[in-house]
Order: sequence, then C-alpha cells, then structure tokens
Amino acid sequence: MLASPPPLADDALIGEAAPSPAGPLAADDRGAYALPPVVPLPRTLQTLRFSVRQIEFVFRWRRQLGETFRFRGVIDDEATVVTSHPDHVKSLFTARPEDAPSLTGESPLRPIVGPNSVLTALGPRHMRQRKLLLPPFHGEAVQRYAEMIAAVTDREIDSWPVGEPIRLAPAMQAITLDVIMAGIFGIEGLPEKGTPARSIRDTIRWAVGLSVRPEAQLFELLDLGREEPSGPLKRLLDKLDRHIYAVIAERRADPSAAERTDILSLLLRATDEEGVPLTDRELRDELLTLVLAGHETTANSLAWAFERLVRTPAAYDRLRDVARCGGADYADEDGWIEATIHETMRSRPVIPMIGRRVTRPWQLGDYRVPAGTAIAMSILLVHHREDVYPDPYAFRPERFLGVKPGTYTWIPFGGGIRRCLGASLAMAEQRVVMRAVARRTDLAAVDPAPERARHRNVTMIPAHGARVVVQSKRAG
Ligand code: HEM
Repeated sequence: MLASPPPLADDALIGEAAPSPAGPLAADDRGAYALPPVVPLPRTLQTLRFSVRQIEFVFRWRRQLGETFRFRGVIDDEATVVTSHPDHVKSLFTARPEDAPSLTGESPLRPIVGPNSVLTALGPRHMRQRKLLLPPFHGEAVQRYAEMIAAVTDREIDSWPVGEPIRLAPAMQAITLDVIMAGIFGIEGLPEKGTPARSIRDTIRWAVGLSVRPEAQLFELLDLGREEPSGPLKRLLDKLDRHIYAVIAERRADPSAAERTDILSLLLRATDEEGVPLTDRELRDELLTLVLAGHETTANSLAWAFERLVRTPAAYDRLRDVARCGGADYADEDGWIEATIHETMRSRPVIPMIGRRVTRPWQLGDYRVPAGTAIAMSILLVHHREDVYPDPYAFRPERFLGVKPGTYTWIPFGGGIRRCLGASLAMAEQRVVMRAVARRTDLAAVDPAPERARHRNVTMIPAHGARVVVQSKRAG
C-alpha cells in the first residue's frame, strides 16, 4: 500500500500525492498479476449502482477498498479497474496510443454519436480527425467568439424573471448551444426559423429537456451495452438525423462552402490520404458529437459554478466585485474568475470518469493488471484527494489563485492525445458567461442545502438544474 502522504504546511491549499509507480510492463512480463480488490456485490447490483448512482458508488468503494479497486459493470465481462492516483493517470495519458486506447468507443455515447467521430474513433483514424478539427478549436481561434458569446449571454439574461425561481442548467444550455451551433454552421445569432439548422437546435433543446426526466434514466439503462440505439432514443435520433442530413446536403450544394471557415465547411473539404472525402454518415457522426459534447458539458459546468457560489458567500461577493469593477474588456486582473472556474471544475467535474483499455500488462502502484484490462480514471476521486486538495469538499477558488492546475491532478478535460478538443472554447465561454452573470445579476439559492449531483449518461449534473432566484438584475 502507499506510504502516508507528506505533511502539508498549514496554509497549503494544494499538495502532492506520494509517488505510486505506474506504466506499461513488457508484453512478455512474467511477473504474477496482483489485481486490485473487487467490489463485493452481485454483478447486476454493481451495474445498477454504477449506472444510477455512480458518484456515491465511487466514493463508497474508494473509502472501503482504497484508491485503486475493481468493479464488474457496464462495459465488460471482465472487471473494470478504477484508479484515482495522479501517477496512474499520468501513465495512461502519456502512453503510446496503441498501448492505452480510449474507452469512448465502447461507452454509452457510441449508440448516439456513432462509431466515426473524433470522440469514438481509435488509432490513425482518430488522429486524422483530431488534426483536422484542432485549428478551429485552438485558443486564439476561439477568442474571436468572445463578443458573440457575450451577446448571446446578454440576450439570455434579459429573459430571466426577477423574484422567481429559475433553473440555471437549461438557461446556460440555451447560451452554449447557440455558441456551438454558430461555430459549427457559421451562423451568426439564431439560425432562421424553418431552416434545418434551426430544427437541429430546437430538437436538441427539446431532447435535453426530456433527458432530465426520471424515465429517461430507464431508457438509458435499457440501451446499455447496445451497439445501436433502440426505442425512444432511436426515434429521437432518426428525427435529428433527418435535419442533420438536410444541413449537409444544403451545404454540399452551396458554392460558397469552398471559402467558408466554419467547421462544417472545413469537414466537407477534408479528405483522407487517398483523397476520399467524408461520407454523409461520417459527417453526421462528427457534427452530432461536436454539438452534444460542445454544449451540455459547458452549460452544466456553469450551472455548477453558480450552484456553488450562491452557497459560498465570500467567493461569490469577490466574484461580483471583480466582474463589476472592470470595463467590458473581460478583464480578470487578479485571476479570480479563472480560479473560480478551476475550482468549480475540480469540485464538480461534469464528466466524472474517463477510461482507457490497456493492450499491455500495466503496473498501477502495488498492483499489476493483464493486457485487455479496462482502466477508468475517476476524475471525481482524483479531485477529492485530501493529500492533493486539503479540505477537498470545501469550495475554495483561492486554491488556484496564481497557481496553474496540475496536468495529472486537475483533469476535468481528460488528457494526452484524447484531451478535450473543445477545452479552450469551454474555458472562453465560462469566462465570458460567468463574468456577465456576476456583473448583471444577484442570485440566491432556492434551497440553502447543496444541490445533489445526478448522473446522466456520462455526465454529472445538478439534480434540480441548479435552482436559483434572481434577486435583482442590471441592464446589459
Ligand atoms: C466544461 C466543458 C467540457 C468538459 C468538462 C469536457 C470534458 C471532456 C472530457 C473529460 C473528454 C475526454 C477526455 C479524455 O478521455 O482524456 C472530452 C473529450 C472531447 N470533448 Fe470535451 N468537454 C467540455 C467541452 C467541450 C466543448 C465545448 C467541445 C466542443 C466541440 C468539446 C468536444 C470534445 C471532443 C470532440 C472530445 C473528444 C476528443 C478526442 O477523443 O480526441 N468538449 N471532453
């Protein structure tokens, strides 16, 4: 087992985990495997608990079994390893792609976004798609979106009623969906009524609204392990696909597509080494991935930020001071807005777990697991290690003041060659939206108790959508 962590200075807000050697072993390694302890529940119960109450599940078994354990669950016949040590994370993020391919191709997302997107593809195909998509999501490229994001945010805040409860998650989703649609389809503002792009937007808003209803979790469970969607999910996707294929056909016929810089036009011009362009089905998978991955995560992260802030008065007051003193140049002189985003994403990572399947035997501290093992990195558990983040359950943005988050200890965007493609966009959106909401509104919690986290598909969201009352509002 691990040695005790080094002592921390009284005022240290970020510490370090004691080392735990990890990495690939030689393919012909003859050492005996030493498997981490397994959750002692019947398999169906584990699957159910993990799918429905993943958050409680990982905290409970980490407490009982240690920082590396196994459970029998959704993905595999074999048990999946869950780890929460930064050195184990590092070994997987820095591994050669063929040694530790991503598990997203096997995740509950696959029936939805299909097998062809940058999220679900593996190997050379994944690298090709990623190279193609990186430039439009690059840090500088997203800066030009700042004004558009601010305009969309102002429009949304204008619509909030004063003195009545609102749910921030759908409100934020209205902003982030319009932002990602603008980037993908090259539309400024709302797509016009009656266009296929508008139908995509409206269908997604409607579907996300439905997906937070309790019965949606049942459909999710029914779809576990399936290659293709079924039932209501299939009907919904068929509807969405009709609109997506219509947008693709429209853009293929548009002579200006050759010069346009939006992501759809870029994808339409892309070819593989043999000069073959993407098929409609491949384009559909990519577009749906970007729309889905690109808005709900950011929206829920913003919702969590204010869920935490309205219950942490000192942090919220300071944020309002910062947001209200500067001009409209999105300044964040002392770094408080950035620190608040970092602390939100630490304490409430919207994607709480990511995985890789090792194709070679792997060492994880005192354990050695065989080739073929699925290893899940619990972002949530890494972010709640007491040795790295003292007082881990407290919301303390000051941890990150003047501190760059660690590559293997702050991992809300994952890492390595699968690191979130939209991280720069997500950060830019959070900066602009957080500042505008803090500048223009005074929010209060509807219920003083913290909002419970709920697991939906691969995300961890506020169970009631982050309910707040807008106590007062300023003009934009
Ligand atoms: C707060 C917001 C967001 C969070 C927390 C988030 C989180 C993540 C995580 C954890 C991964 C998996 C990384 C891994 O396995 O190592 C990922 C992948 C990805 N994300 Fe995000 N994401 C966010 C916003 C966005 C946005 C705005 C986009 C825009 C398009 C986006 C597009 C993607 C794509 C395409 C991938 C797959 C990358 C690959 O496999 O190469 N995400 N994201």
